[in-house]
Amino acid sequence: MVYLVTGSAGFIGFHLAQKLLQENHQVIGVDNLNNYYDPKLKKARLEILKKHSNFSFYQLDIAEFASFEKVFTENKIDKVCHLAAQAGVRYSLENPHIYEQSNMVGFLNLLELMRKHKVKDLVYASSSSVYGGIKKVPFIEDMTINQPISLYAATKAANELYAYVYHHLYELNAIGLRFFTVYGPWGRPDMALFLFTKAILENKPIKVFNQGQMKRDFTYVDDIISGIMASLDKVSDLGYEIFNLGCADPVNLLDFIKTIEENLGKKAKKEFLPLQPGDVPNTYADISKAQKLLGYQPKIKIKEGVGKFIDWYRKYYEA
Ligand SMILES: NC(=O)c1ccc[n+]([C@@H]2O[C@H](COP(=O)([O-])OP(=O)(O)OC[C@H]3O[C@@H](n4cnc5c(N)ncnc54)[C@H](O)[C@@H]3O)[C@@H](O)[C@H]2O)c1
Repeated sequence: MVYLVTGSAGFIGFHLAQKLLQENHQVIGVDNLNNYYDPKLKKARLEILKKHSNFSFYQLDIAEFASFEKVFTENKIDKVCHLAAQAGVRYSLENPHIYEQSNMVGFLNLLELMRKHKVKDLVYASSSSVYGGIKKVPFIEDMTINQPISLYAATKAANELYAYVYHHLYELNAIGLRFFTVYGPWGRPDMALFLFTKAILENKPIKVFNQGQMKRDFTYVDDIISGIMASLDKVSDLGYEIFNLGCADPVNLLDFIKTIEENLGKKAKKEFLPLQPGDVPNTYADISKAQKLLGYQPKIKIKEGVGKFIDWYRKYYEA
């Protein structure tokens, strides 16, 4: 099979591309290698992928239709996994326009290109942030999500609506995956596990938001990849669906920090701060739909997953 993976130099895209290549598929990667976080990390991921003869790569911006179209004219694509996006809740308060470009224009370009070039099967990244300020946990897919509290969340919720339109009008098969705080080796430098590990090792204080009164349903990247693989496998049968991909085991922020401290054998200096605008205090996925329809079953618990991340971090940064 020929898979197009957008965001292939990103954290999740890199792991997915590796998995598809290991299973002997052909992977076409797309990424603009932007500098939202250190592009060296993106390039290092890409170098690993480029070792596979079944991997090809286009450096381009998906918000530019004409350059994106080349990928479709030059290749016969079977299925698409769309992970390219401007991620991050907090950054969407500082730089809203980039979210419009990458997450809205980029997504519409992809839908139009799939329609035009008759590619039928799409799996794309949504986010747990679409649940916004909903207090009731666990979050279930059929909850009404019309009150996002960040522009990032609004773009992800809008992607789900756009995908439905293309399913309805053009019979596109589209699965939207609401990822819950994904972590693991090669993880993102703007996320808590990376920031905390780095700061603790450098004897710098860590920022603990909402005075530590937060819970996150951290999900290990290999579990996310197994959910994406199952979705790619089943998308043509399922038509249009939305799934939560979480661990269904939320962790207190302070316990999370303790796990990192234990792994590093070092205490964190904590700076307690209020909840940041746009952020939600709790996330918790109900995963019964994904269990039933995708056979999804997360396996890695937080202690083991944090250990795997820290092993990678120490080796990669020689820290
Ligand atoms: N990591 C998480 O916890 C998490 C949670 C919920 C949703 N998601 C979503 O999952 C997807 C992958 O996330 P990730 O953690 O791997 O993030 P990431 O930032 O590491 O990967 C995204 C990649 O997309 C690329 N990209 C961004 N805008 C682009 C554009 N306009 N054109 C081409 N490439 C572009 C970036 O350069 C990056 O390499 C994203 O859609 C993100 O919103 C991630």
